[in-house]
Amino acid sequence: MSLIVWFTGLSGAGKSTLCCAVYSKLKQRQIPVSVLDADVVRQHLSRDLGYSPGDRAENMRRISHAAKELSRDGTIVLVAAISPYQAIRSEIRRHHAFFIEVFVNAPLEVCERRDPKGLYRKARAGLIKDFTGISAPYENPTNPDVECKTDKESIETSSAKIIAVIEQVMNTRRAD
Ligand code: ADX
Repeated sequence: MSLIVWFTGLSGAGKSTLCCAVYSKLKQRQIPVSVLDADVVRQHLSRDLGYSPGDRAENMRRISHAAKELSRDGTIVLVAAISPYQAIRSEIRRHHAFFIEVFVNAPLEVCERRDPKGLYRKARAGLIKDFTGISAPYENPTNPDVECKTDKESIETSSAKIIAVIEQVMNTRRAD
């Protein structure tokens, strides 16, 4: 039975960082786990895609498909992708037996201040078009399974919250 943990949020919100922390915690417990990070996926599987709404939707569907394949043997798959559209996230949720949506939530001004890749600065200067939060939308999840306010809580607190929900789902899975 597949379990996907999907981290959504703005660039710089902390998706990859949290994904990494949760990955380590699961590994420590010897739970099979794999990561699909959109930054990496966009270098190969989605290399042909840009950032139009259609391309982002296609990117999300490809990641979802890859996650499903990876999860077939019971491996938990952690996905980190901006995935800005509620409708596509809902569509993807329906494709998985067990799906945990993690809203990695930091205000735009915080993400922009962090600007780990210098992309917000470029987007503000008009050098990157359709940049999420600046010139392209991000639709906040309306009913996430976990919300991590990364400007207010530590990585430890956030990752512990996520692990607790994963454990709940794993217990349900066992009871099936
Ligand atoms: S998604 O919208 O299709 O889910 P995804 O998470 O795969 O986005 O890719 C986002 C990453 O691509 C960002 O972390 C950033 O490094 C890079 N990027 C380049 N151009 C853009 C853009 N216009 N909008 C958002 N991210 C961009």
